[in-house]
Amino acid sequence: MKVYLCFVLLYVTYVNAGSLPSFIKPCSRSDPQLNQCVEKVISAAGAKFTEGIPELGIAPLDPVELGTVFVDNPALKLTFTDTVVTGLKGFRVNTYKINPDKGKATLDFTANVTLKAHYVMDGQVLILPIKGDGESRIKITNLNIVVKYDFVERDGHWNVPSYKDHYKMDRAQFKFTNLFGGNKELAQTTQRFTNENWEIIMSEIAPPAIKQIIKKCVDQVNKFFGAIPAAELLPSN
Ligand SMILES: *[C@@H]1O[C@H](CO)[C@@H](O)[C@H](O)[C@H]1NC(C)=O
Repeated sequence: MKVYLCFVLLYVTYVNAGSLPSFIKPCSRSDPQLNQCVEKVISAAGAKFTEGIPELGIAPLDPVELGTVFVDNPALKLTFTDTVVTGLKGFRVNTYKINPDKGKATLDFTANVTLKAHYVMDGQVLILPIKGDGESRIKITNLNIVVKYDFVERDGHWNVPSYKDHYKMDRAQFKFTNLFGGNKELAQTTQRFTNENWEIIMSEIAPPAIKQIIKKCVDQVNKFFGAIPAAELLPSN
């Protein structure tokens, strides 16, 4: 009996050591204010999560590397390479809703993010020709992302097999170096024009770029769910 107890204690200690990081305080499944509880957990642990958790195989989300992003519009060809996005760490949770019985949840959050990349661009925006090959920076103010996701439990772990996303933003501001091969006057005019018409330009750039950001986030959440048993994330007592 003593030996058995010893074994159980050892086992419990081992499981705790290899699982939920101490900066994440789980909510009880029966909490009458479960939504608010999880919202607080995400707010409190989110910044640390975005730094990555190497012992659980979770990669950083700030910075997050998107690699190559293509905008393939008949009027505007634009390719970003070595794309890096920063700022997710400072995200703010607006609302969180979870229905554990149905396996559905919605996370609504806002962050100020900056995308940096090498760019090659050729085409036109409205009637203005635009061409360049250099470094670019896009600052997005109050990028609001809403992710509605399904989660299923398999072998004691959650997994997100599908999700839907929506996003909007207050503003985007661009900086492009070496527009028109460095022609200063033309570059200045174009730079101003892009910033005044940021909505038109972002309507091309945002779908491929922001979809990728969201996918990277979901990928890391899935890794997290794969590492931590569902019963520890949402204990039923
Ligand atoms: C983003 O920046 C703006 C202006 O600098 C600020 O008002 C806003 O609160 C920031 N948003 C977040 C989510 O930090």
